[in-house]
Amino acid sequence: MREIRNVAIAGAGTMGASLAQAFAKYGYPVKLYDLFPAALEKARGLIRLNQQGEVEAGNLTAEESAALQQRITFVEKMEDLADTDFLVEAILEDLDIKHDFYRQLCPIVPEDAILCSNTSGLSITAIAKAVTHPERFAGMHWMNPPHIIPLIEIVRGEETSEETAEAVRQVALKLHKRPVVIKDAPSFVLNRLQQAILRESLHIVQEGIATPEAVDDVMKYALGFRYACFGPFETCDLGGLDIHYNISKYTFPDLCDAKEPFGLLEECIQQNRLGVKNGAGFYDYSDGKDQETIRRRDELFLKLAKCLFEE
Ligand SMILES: NC(=O)c1ccc[n+]([C@@H]2O[C@H](COP(=O)([O-])OP(=O)(O)OC[C@H]3O[C@@H](n4cnc5c(N)ncnc54)[C@H](O)[C@@H]3O)[C@@H](O)[C@H]2O)c1
Repeated sequence: MREIRNVAIAGAGTMGASLAQAFAKYGYPVKLYDLFPAALEKARGLIRLNQQGEVEAGNLTAEESAALQQRITFVEKMEDLADTDFLVEAILEDLDIKHDFYRQLCPIVPEDAILCSNTSGLSITAIAKAVTHPERFAGMHWMNPPHIIPLIEIVRGEETSEETAEAVRQVALKLHKRPVVIKDAPSFVLNRLQQAILRESLHIVQEGIATPEAVDDVMKYALGFRYACFGPFETCDLGGLDIHYNISKYTFPDLCDAKEPFGLLEECIQQNRLGVKNGAGFYDYSDGKDQETIRRRDELFLKLAKCLFEE
């Protein structure tokens, strides 16, 4: 397998800006590529903001953070990616756009460069149709914000070789992440679980069982608290399988099994309430509450990561 010296991140949006930091933190020179100069400019600002948070949290010294930022180069031309050994693509979540991207990219990068998509759940096998030597292509699904959240789903498409999956896993370990290797399935594992929780949460609110605030509290102060330390199978073992079996018997028939997104979520979207990014979602993010929420999120996540995973 190719030695990994030069890393490229394609797409300098929410994920790309953070991904660049995750690699640069561990010494990799990173080229952050985007079609749009304005996106690169925005990414520069976001990286500065994130790095301020890292220094304030005591995760990096000001000098380490400056060195990290110097390892990131911002590029607008795909030709600049010619020396890439390892690429993570984080462009728009659209199969046709991703296909166009890989068709243009493959003749530029070395034939044995490892290529990964950060797709949230599009089929890796389907994206691979536009990749030459698809055995060197895999899913590398990071969570937002990637420079903080430990998990990475490494997704093996039908053509992904074992060597590639293992090489991606080794890179994840070098970045001090917690990789899991999984089979290609719609939405992988994380988003399947997340969507199952979202569907039931929406159902609970719509049925008048609880408010969004109450559901968020149940997650934060009990389930999320517990799941930060023990997964559902470990939790089941701790509680007793017979107990969980009996609860499942009377609960499963009453759970939501809707096949389409519904109700509250649709209403918010129709009213252009898209969340933190445009000032309103289930909650209000106007008048600086958006930045405050992101700052608070990063502060809490950094504390949690330090508390649970510090090596
Ligand atoms: N946002 C999340 O929470 C999250 C989490 C996990 C995975 N993802 C996945 O990561 C990818 C990126 O998501 P995001 O939230 O960062 O999106 P985003 O919209 O913030 O950023 C996408 C960037 O890609 C650029 N771009 C679009 N087409 C391009 C092309 N052909 N070549 C180069 N750059 C191009 C855009 O200019 C933009 O800057 C998606 O596949 C998404 O599903 C997102």
